[in-house]
Amino acid sequence: MKPIEEYVRSIPDFPEQGIIFRDVTSVLQDADGLHLAVDLMQGKLDGVEFDVIVGPESRGFIFGVPIAYNLHKPFIPIRKKGKLPCETVSIRYDLEYGTAELEVHRDAIKEGQKVVIIDDLIATGGTNEAMIKLVEGLGGEVVKTVFLMELSGLEGRKRLKGYDVESVIAYPGK
Ligand code: PRP
Ligand code: MG
Repeated sequence: MKPIEEYVRSIPDFPEQGIIFRDVTSVLQDADGLHLAVDLMQGKLDGVEFDVIVGPESRGFIFGVPIAYNLHKPFIPIRKKGKLPCETVSIRYDLEYGTAELEVHRDAIKEGQKVVIIDDLIATGGTNEAMIKLVEGLGGEVVKTVFLMELSGLEGRKRLKGYDVESVIAYPGK
């Protein structure tokens, strides 16, 4: 099997000039790449005690569910606004251009539960910061976040100071 880095296709100048897009679809469309990505992300949870996995729509679902399934933990979807049918709590957060809103069912996380967040990528850290606020607002404790990829040049970790954040692949640039 190739190293995980070799399954990620990099597209220069997408979606705009100067940005290198790290494409997760090239990992997923290869059976070995998919196995390796899930196994390496799951490996970051060795020895971590937790109750639930939380992942954001949509790419957070791709990795969050198989890891939750393998470890026999519940999976809590955090969805884009307007998709969840029961009582929710929501949070607006800034994107590079404009804002977005995420929400979760109010009964999905119980007071005192230990939560692991899974997502494909940390860029600015804005999505993760918003998820942490949602989880903590419901009384959960975020014990770890695991990403497949990290764009270190965007310094998303600075927004997540004090939290345990790990990524499988760290790219030095943006
Ligand atoms: C992408 C990616 C992460 C987030 C990272 O999701 O999947 O969730 O951006 O960026 P940040 O660290 O700057 O917040 P996106 O909002 O594009 O939606 P998607 O998962 O539905 O593709
Ligand atoms: Mg996403």
